[in-house]
Amino acid sequence: MREQLAKIKSQAAVAVQEAGDLNQLNEVRVKFLGKKGELTQVLRGMGGLSAAERPIIGQLANEVREFLEQQLEDKQAVLKEGAKARQLAAETIDITLPGRPVLLGKRHPLTTVLDEIKTIFLGLGFEIEEGPEVETDYYNFEALNLPKEHPARDMQDSFYITAETLLRTHTSPVQPRTMEKKAPQVPVKVIAPGKVYRRDDDATHSPMFHQVEGFIIDKNISFSDLKGTLLTFSRQMFGEDREIRLRPSFFPFTEPSAEVDISCIMCHGKGCRVCSGTGWLEILGSGMIHPRVLSMSGYDPQEVTGFAFGMGVERITMLKYGIDDLRLLFENDLRFLGQF
Ligand code: PHE
Repeated sequence: MREQLAKIKSQAAVAVQEAGDLNQLNEVRVKFLGKKGELTQVLRGMGGLSAAERPIIGQLANEVREFLEQQLEDKQAVLKEGAKARQLAAETIDITLPGRPVLLGKRHPLTTVLDEIKTIFLGLGFEIEEGPEVETDYYNFEALNLPKEHPARDMQDSFYITAETLLRTHTSPVQPRTMEKKAPQVPVKVIAPGKVYRRDDDATHSPMFHQVEGFIIDKNISFSDLKGTLLTFSRQMFGEDREIRLRPSFFPFTEPSAEVDISCIMCHGKGCRVCSGTGWLEILGSGMIHPRVLSMSGYDPQEVTGFAFGMGVERITMLKYGIDDLRLLFENDLRFLGQF
């Protein structure tokens, strides 16, 4: 039995030293000190010993157990230290690695241009009004001298919601809405920026786009006021060397009506690819507010006159930045947006 105990002691000591992790160490503990372990088996056999030998072997067995327990405890401490060190090593940050770039957001070119347009007109004494995108047939058409069945309604293919409501096809409904609020007060100097909707979808048309409406009502407003205002705007927007040209046009809510061109920003009027050889680029529709539009919304056309214009923000943005495909403005491709 002494031999058996000595053998257990030396074998267990080696096994403890060889244990590579806490699991293996626990297996060693079970093998030697567990309920069915080797030391336990030896102790069970002590019943067959003489009364003289029993305390001696008993003491020896206790010493072996205490020795093993100490060994296990020491080794456990070593293994735990090792695990902690490995974890620390794994969590170490290599501060010499290059950092991850933080992407900075940028303003969308449409927002930039819209803000520029607002700033120019606020500087000219205009104030900003807004109207709803879901509009009634009355404000979108009727109050703008476009009665039901009027053929000019076809100029703007519409998204109807019910028989009497639709997504507004232009910002012009803000004209009668504002007039109803203010009449007969003058002067009225308003711009109305916002989203508009038409049933179009190709490289040059989007079903949703932005317009800025502008209008003035006062005593003695004339066509030259319209021209002067739009010349000032065009030069602030596109450069002091811009010229403008007014071409006769038709809108049911203005009379007379004119489309406004600016001298081509690429060739300055000589004729190039951008202006299709004409030297001019169309930027907006305009005219003197039709007397019927004034009277329907509370103003006396014998007392006051007014002019109005409506410009496409996408179109102005494309001209300003030389963007050749409208869809780029709506795709949110960061390679495109990052250039502004
Ligand atoms: N509302 C017209 C359009 O969308 C533009 C316009 C506005 C024309 C004001 C004249 C006066 O085409």
